Amino acid sequence: MLKNPEAKIVGREAWGDYVLLRFEAPTISALARPGQFLMVRVADGPYPLLRRPLGIHLRKDKALGVFFKIAGEGTALLARKRPGETLDVLGPLGNGFSVDPCLAGKAVFAVGGGRGIAPLYFLAWELRALGAAVKILYGGRTKDDVPLAARFRDEAFDQVLTTDDGSAGREGFVTAALEEEAGKAAPAMIFACGPDPMLEAVGRIAAARDIPAELSLESRMGCGFGACWGCVQRVRVDGKPAWVKICEDGPVFPAEAVVWDKDAR
Ligand SMILES: Cc1cc2nc3c(=O)[nH]c(=O)nc-3n(C[C@H](O)[C@H](O)[C@H](O)COP(=O)(O)OP(=O)(O)OC[C@H]3O[C@@H](n4cnc5c(N)ncnc54)[C@H](O)[C@@H]3O)c2cc1C
Ligand code: FES
Repeated sequence: MLKNPEAKIVGREAWGDYVLLRFEAPTISALARPGQFLMVRVADGPYPLLRRPLGIHLRKDKALGVFFKIAGEGTALLARKRPGETLDVLGPLGNGFSVDPCLAGKAVFAVGGGRGIAPLYFLAWELRALGAAVKILYGGRTKDDVPLAARFRDEAFDQVLTTDDGSAGREGFVTAALEEEAGKAAPAMIFACGPDPMLEAVGRIAAARDIPAELSLESRMGCGFGACWGCVQRVRVDGKPAWVKICEDGPVFPAEAVVWDKDAR
């Protein structure tokens, strides 16, 4: 884990509540893998004290990018940052997705719900570089929640777009599109990031068809590197339920390992 307290912001794009910041962080960039995250200080002053976890959205040359939805005070402050200013970032943290060379030449699905699309962009590019055929399944509540759809399309990714209200792409949940697409041709692997109910459904669909799947989970985080126990999750380790830390042992877990039963958490 490295700290870059003065990563220079070199780009900013915004679509309503969604913001993409690009910044120079060469040493972190050299180590970064898809699915890993950064702990980002959202303000230059002492408040808010806690850094916010954000997935690594892209890596281009020596720059990294984060893509986030304004969810509360911290992300609203971060959204005010402009090119020329600096960001204080810590990372790369967590385990990341399995970008396995055995996926070369195979079909893989990347399923993102809302802001959960953030780490899948980096993943999609790394999988493409490996020679995998990547299908993006991107869902949001309305057309305003799928701002990266045009980018995936322009960059020639095979994409299935869904919105709950039908204002862009197919009407319905992204998991319905997953079921349909997996029914037509099962991929070698499914990667997913999004809200818990979506991830739970992805896990069910993958299990029913015997497709390996990896899910990137979220939690509120205090430290991001295993010190505070603020991010525990119940998973099966060697078949038995156990408490693990999402920041250190995750955020990516095999779908079959995640215990969704709320009472068991
Ligand atoms: C490993 C990891 C990677 C993440 N990557 C991204 C990303 O790439 N892009 C992105 O937009 N967001 C991402 N998140 C979520 C992001 O960290 C939170 O939205 C952010 O911390 C909220 O901070 P805030 O101060 O703006 O909101 P707060 O004021 O702290 O909270 C606003 C609302 O969001 C809820 N909330 C806060 N944090 C979380 C959380 N982690 N999970 C679920 N609900 C939460 C709160 O309960 C509250 O209702 C990630 C979270 C984790 C754990
Ligand atoms: S956030 Fe502190 S242990 Fe995970």
